[in-house]
Amino acid sequence: MASETQSLGFIGGGQMAEALIKGILAADLYRAEQLMVAEPHGPRREELAERHGVTVHAEAGPLLAACPVLILAVKPQVVAAVLEHYSGQLGKDHLLISIAAGITLTFMEERLAPAPVRVIRVMPNTPALVLAAASALSPGRHAREEDLQLARRIFAAVGEAVVLEEKLLDAVTGLSGSGPAYVFTFLEALIDAGVKVGLSREVAEQLARQTILGSVRLALATPEKNPAALRAMVTSPGGTTIAGLHVLEKGGFRGLVMDAVEAATQRSVELGRG
Ligand SMILES: NC(=O)c1ccc[n+]([C@@H]2O[C@H](COP(=O)([O-])OP(=O)(O)OC[C@H]3O[C@@H](n4cnc5c(N)ncnc54)[C@H](OP(=O)(O)O)[C@@H]3O)[C@@H](O)[C@H]2O)c1
Repeated sequence: MASETQSLGFIGGGQMAEALIKGILAADLYRAEQLMVAEPHGPRREELAERHGVTVHAEAGPLLAACPVLILAVKPQVVAAVLEHYSGQLGKDHLLISIAAGITLTFMEERLAPAPVRVIRVMPNTPALVLAAASALSPGRHAREEDLQLARRIFAAVGEAVVLEEKLLDAVTGLSGSGPAYVFTFLEALIDAGVKVGLSREVAEQLARQTILGSVRLALATPEKNPAALRAMVTSPGGTTIAGLHVLEKGGFRGLVMDAVEAATQRSVELGRG
């Protein structure tokens, strides 16, 4: 028995929409019959209907009529056109949850005015594709507490979700939005390092991947220990790990990570202004 009773519509049936559909169905939040997707590509519509049993349409009109809650999952550059096209049909009874990167609440609310559409902006990240997203949610001026709770349940179905003021979403973009790319860069570097010290690429890849996965799982399984305590556990006096850590510290590893997050945050601020 699904916990939500109304229908949920997705405007845009791409990668992120599919990840959310998977998570929502796996969490039994909605039944497939309650999910509707508007997607312009016929083959993609068929794929979504076949894989998940959702109802598909070529455009969003039928969704607006049937779904009080809509997830806007189109690329950021088409958000303005979509909102302008449907603004007359969106009203106070709709909750619009946007995942379009960099599109502000004000931008959306202005295009929907004078209708007081309840809008929530979400910044998820790519691990949503494996139901392990880190998402931050910010409510618009007309959104109610229950809207936020519902959006939170939806994004908790594909990972972790936090509620923050919109002005912090640039920092979220710098940390968890861009974060997977930093981690992949670290993973790549670890693999190359393994090759440099004589391991085959295949073995280096296997060991490096599992090391990152295992370390994160260990951190999650032992919340009483902060990362410094976990690091100390594997750093014996005069041992191998401290020799490696010494090189990272000399190279300014932590400062570099902080600078990277700060630069990405700043870039998000600039793009938001642009
Ligand atoms: N992927 C991520 O990890 C990630 C992370 C954070 C945020 N986001 C945000 O999530 C949003 C979706 O990303 P995505 O990766 O899922 O993109 P995507 O795979 O390109 O999916 C968007 C889909 O919406 C369709 N579409 C375009 N105009 C439409 C309209 N008027 N009505 C209905 N559907 C329409 C697109 O068709 P066309 O191909 O014809 O345009 C496409 O199939 C983006 O705004 C992105 O910023 C994504």
